[in-house]
Amino acid sequence: MKKGILPLIVGNWKMNPLSITIATSLAKNIKTAVGKIDDVDIVIAPPTVYIASVHAILKHSKTIALGVQTIHHEKLGAFTGEISIPMVHEFSVRYIILGHSERRALGEDDVTINEKLTATLKAGMTAILCIGEKKRDEGGLYLSGIEKQIRAGLVGVSRTKLSHVVIAYEPVWAIGSGMTPTAEDIHEMRLFIEKILSDMYERNYAQKVRVLYGGSVDEKNARELFVGGTVDGFLVGGASLHVKTFRDIIMSVRPTH
Ligand code: 13P
Repeated sequence: MKKGILPLIVGNWKMNPLSITIATSLAKNIKTAVGKIDDVDIVIAPPTVYIASVHAILKHSKTIALGVQTIHHEKLGAFTGEISIPMVHEFSVRYIILGHSERRALGEDDVTINEKLTATLKAGMTAILCIGEKKRDEGGLYLSGIEKQIRAGLVGVSRTKLSHVVIAYEPVWAIGSGMTPTAEDIHEMRLFIEKILSDMYERNYAQKVRVLYGGSVDEKNARELFVGGTVDGFLVGGASLHVKTFRDIIMSVRPTH
């Protein structure tokens, strides 16, 4: 954890739950469960079709912010099936997850991700840039892939925007698999990410970027991965759909824990 920056926990609901009724009750229950915590930044990112309803539940919440799972970089036009930043801005969306491996698997490339990230920052929102290797090799070649994802994702981003950039390290093999890297592995990756950012920007600016870990985080491993991994928080998938588990993960990163 970096001094002066609150931990950040992001719940990526992915394509869940199945109905708006369940989505609204999940949001209500999370809101009740986290109460008035003010020492952790909490974000939930439901499917975009639920954003208006979840916004109605959270709109007076100072504790939980809204995010979306992707966005189109253009404001409007002939882009069938897409949703733009001004459209979600109306619902107080402040965070946009970009480059998730499940979207990269659908063909989203680094150039597109960079366009989306640039548009996100231009709108004054926070971009959560997801990076991560598909698998690790003993020679460490996967590290050059990670470096490429960071450099390509941040093309054209000025140092003054870095406080609105979050990097989420999500090894693809750890997502939904029940497997995680060790806390030591995550710590090393954190240092590696910081080194790349410091090569790209001055160190004091580079340090404004929060680094999250994501991939099979649950209430049992969260504390160890947070402290040992020296990350600034988590991007949580499956466990963010379970109120008590999500709450326990949030509690495990509180500075007063
Ligand atoms: P799980 O927590 O379900 O492994 O998913 C992680 C993830 O992809 C969050 O974006």
